[in-house]
Amino acid sequence: MRYGYFDDTAREYVITRPDTPLPWINYLGNDGFFSLISNTCGGYSFYKDAKLRRITRFRYNNVPADDGGRCFYVCDGDTVWSPAFLPAGTPLDSYRCRHGMGYSVFEGRKNGVSASLTVMVPMGVNLEVQKLELTNDTDQAKTLTVYGAVEWCLWNAVDDATNFQRNWNIGEVEIEGGTIYHKTEYRERRDHYAFYSVNAPVAGFDTDRDAFLGQFRSWRNPKAVEERTSCGSIAAGWAPIAALRLNVDLAPGQTKTLLFRLGYVENPADRKFDALNVINKDLAHRMMQDFSSEAQFDTAFDALRAYWAGLLSRFTVHSGEEKLDRMVNIWNQYQCMVTFNMSRSASYYESGTGRGMGFRDSCQDLLGFVHLIPQRARERIIDIASIQFADGSTYHQYQPLTRRGNADIGSGFNDDPLWLIACTCAYIRETGDFSILDEPTPFNNEPSTEVPLLEHLRRSLNYTVTHRGPHGLPLIGRADWNDCLNLNCFSLTPGESFQTCSNFESGKAESVFIAGMFVKYGAEYAALCDRIGLADEAADVRRSVQEIENAVLSHGWDGEWFRRAYDAFERPIGSQLNDEGRIYIEPQGFCVMAGIGGADYGRRALRSAVSLLGNEFGLEVLHPCYSEYHDYLGEISSYPPGYKENGSVFCHNNPWVILAFCAVGDGNGAFDLYTRQAPAYIEDKSEIHRTEPYCYSQTIAGRAARTYGEAKNSWLTGTAAWSFVAVSQGILGIRPDYDGLVVDPCLPDHMDGFRVSRVFRGTRYDIIVRRGAQKGLVVDGRPVTGNTVPLTDAPSCSVTLTI
Ligand code: GLC
Ligand code: GLC
Repeated sequence: MRYGYFDDTAREYVITRPDTPLPWINYLGNDGFFSLISNTCGGYSFYKDAKLRRITRFRYNNVPADDGGRCFYVCDGDTVWSPAFLPAGTPLDSYRCRHGMGYSVFEGRKNGVSASLTVMVPMGVNLEVQKLELTNDTDQAKTLTVYGAVEWCLWNAVDDATNFQRNWNIGEVEIEGGTIYHKTEYRERRDHYAFYSVNAPVAGFDTDRDAFLGQFRSWRNPKAVEERTSCGSIAAGWAPIAALRLNVDLAPGQTKTLLFRLGYVENPADRKFDALNVINKDLAHRMMQDFSSEAQFDTAFDALRAYWAGLLSRFTVHSGEEKLDRMVNIWNQYQCMVTFNMSRSASYYESGTGRGMGFRDSCQDLLGFVHLIPQRARERIIDIASIQFADGSTYHQYQPLTRRGNADIGSGFNDDPLWLIACTCAYIRETGDFSILDEPTPFNNEPSTEVPLLEHLRRSLNYTVTHRGPHGLPLIGRADWNDCLNLNCFSLTPGESFQTCSNFESGKAESVFIAGMFVKYGAEYAALCDRIGLADEAADVRRSVQEIENAVLSHGWDGEWFRRAYDAFERPIGSQLNDEGRIYIEPQGFCVMAGIGGADYGRRALRSAVSLLGNEFGLEVLHPCYSEYHDYLGEISSYPPGYKENGSVFCHNNPWVILAFCAVGDGNGAFDLYTRQAPAYIEDKSEIHRTEPYCYSQTIAGRAARTYGEAKNSWLTGTAAWSFVAVSQGILGIRPDYDGLVVDPCLPDHMDGFRVSRVFRGTRYDIIVRRGAQKGLVVDGRPVTGNTVPLTDAPSCSVTLTI
């Protein structure tokens, strides 16, 4: 069943009831100020870093799960209701939530009053603006009391949730008219504060949570709201909030609009104060002035919509398949932006307090983003490379605010370095900007260690070449892409990290997956070397590629599929020799994409993958699932069968298999797998799938699970980028390359063709692909041999490919 529908014209998903199986969320903000917002208006905001600069509080493990966030109450006679249903939870006469590109709209109606609440983070401002329009649809005058409230987080989200002996003493606010300033720790080392205000006179306020809520209550039923009053409380420690109360009189038919503004301000260290402990509010005043009228809001809203329309127009398809078009043209690209911005840090499943930006995650996210804003991709590549060590290994994660590698988790994930080659090559193919290779880039962010980025790529590659095991395959280290295959960590201590305990450094455990990556990205690196005149280096690299390819052919092929790894005792994993975990998905994707063993091995591996791993939502990570814990395998066997890495459909790796199908020219196989998990295609199963039908989730419980088909961990997954690569570059076959745009589709039999409009290096390519007798490529009316549309300086170019 469904809980809403796609409105493709508006680029919105319209949720028609508040009781979605899980909170269905959206992301606001593109650069500095970010907000998560659910279909009942829950969620939280932060500036750049969800751990270090959390603006509003979110309670993990809360019941009910999605309470709080943005708290609006409309008091009308005896009834108190919320325009987005929560927090009041009063049943509404009608409800809709429209999640759009960077904004969300909530439309609630109760007892003849309609509310429309539009929430956005305007472009280039550190502010969330909430426009609340209230209309009296009755023929009686209405006298409403309206509240808007948020709960502040004391900035560092980890301290906020743990260090209460300090926290309950430090909360401070300042009040100026109807504006509440949150200035905890501003008196000492912070130079930033937040504010919440409304563009109309307030009748009262509260800044102390417990005064506002009252004893034994929650955000569902604050005492002040019940009494239609405010206490004028001034927070001193405990939990500071901003709760504003307004009187709103509405004549029959009348509409009134209020603008609530949640802002974040940084001041220069020498201009922090106006007087002793009185904060300098100049910037906040300016921000409020800029968003004090409906017209200003509407202008910013139009600008936001225009921005997204422009971005998404860089790649559009018309295929005759409605669901394919809406994924490609809207939601998949939108999710690519979100994963680029967030990596795996902040969602309803990622707490924002743990992992910051992942090295491999961000490299892969970039693959689906680079065509949107290449300049931001360029900056990101340099940031990522800057956490690499001189020996080519790298920190696994870094915090976005400090850009420092995360020492808790450290390094030793042996696939990481190769992803840097993948994303840098993708960037250069997209932009033609070889100058990035000369960019001075430090190791471990240490000044004066800068070397050209190319040297980082070289060391990445060498790291694999020089870290090989008994079969000549790459060593796996703490884990490769599959974080849970921990072959050198024999953990028996509860709570210990499966990845970092590294207590059995065998120097033997090997990864066939990394071998596949090396063959693919080593070849890409060699091709890059050729382009920049490093023919000798290219030849050397090709020799290493050949060696590792041979190692896979001798020790990585299991007869009907590729093996996964060798453990610390040199025993194969992902083999018919095993009882459980006999086949894994990752090497079937990567080794086939890399062309190891040619189309013959490729087809056999894919046939095995589909028949053994396939379910209606895609291909499971492995089969059969591990039924008990094995210390020599690690976290993978810690999950109950069918969950996460132990045999769910771990969506991220399915697009690799789609691309593998394309590599062997099997369009039907590619398309079938694509449609098993593309969210728009499974919208009708929302009660089973449970997560948002407009974005990919990380994991869908496998056949062995008790809740087969149930997805978890929506939004922040490499599935977004890889699915976009798989559909745009594999199935539709539009691939940026050094010398031009390749058009090489791999369509299912039932598709007769499509049209794509794609901006590439400043030219808009209008591409028609169709079936016909007269095969070949025609560019601006002239036949061209091969599949590459040559580069041009013209603003537009029309291309027809007949297949
Ligand atoms: C998560 C991690 C990613 C890893 C994957 C498989 O998505 O963020 O880095 O590759 O799990 O374990
Ligand atoms: C990845 C995996 C998850 C594991 C984590 C460890 O996110 O998906 O299962 O717990 O890595 O860091």
